[in-house]
Amino acid sequence: MALIPIIFIPDPVLRRVAAPVREVTDGVRQLLDDMAETMYDAPGIGLAAPQVNVSERLIVMDCGPDEAPELHKMINPEIVARSDETAILEEGCLSIPKQTAEVKRPAHVDVRYITIDGTEQMMRCEGLLAACVQHEIDHLDGVLFIDHISRLKRDMIVRRALKELRQVNGDD
Ligand code: NI
Repeated sequence: MALIPIIFIPDPVLRRVAAPVREVTDGVRQLLDDMAETMYDAPGIGLAAPQVNVSERLIVMDCGPDEAPELHKMINPEIVARSDETAILEEGCLSIPKQTAEVKRPAHVDVRYITIDGTEQMMRCEGLLAACVQHEIDHLDGVLFIDHISRLKRDMIVRRALKELRQVNGDD
């Protein structure tokens, strides 16, 4: 297991459509393990492969400890059904440091994905897990949570995040 450096905005890898995984190899399983370790270390509740500079359709999530504390590793996840009912939850992103915004999304979704054993599985996601899985699958399509809010809020969040990153890098 190893930590992988997290990629921040405005890196173009975050805006690329990630490629489907063709075969579940030991390399894929190792990457998912490393992504999970990186997510827990951050700490965060979800991480998509483009956020560690790998443009492939892989995500990890763990919405614990309060809600659904379980590590999920998903290969080629796809939303196959969305509720009409919506929910508004506060979201953040490890690639957009220290910024959050309220995002409105379907309240529950059904997700189809490939497990680390290479079998197809379906999962009904509700509550925080529903927001999280939609946020992570968005990453695989080059979409960030700031794309779901007003332009005014988006510009403000991007400005603040970039300032945060400059301070972390010591060039401010
Ligand atoms: Ni994110």
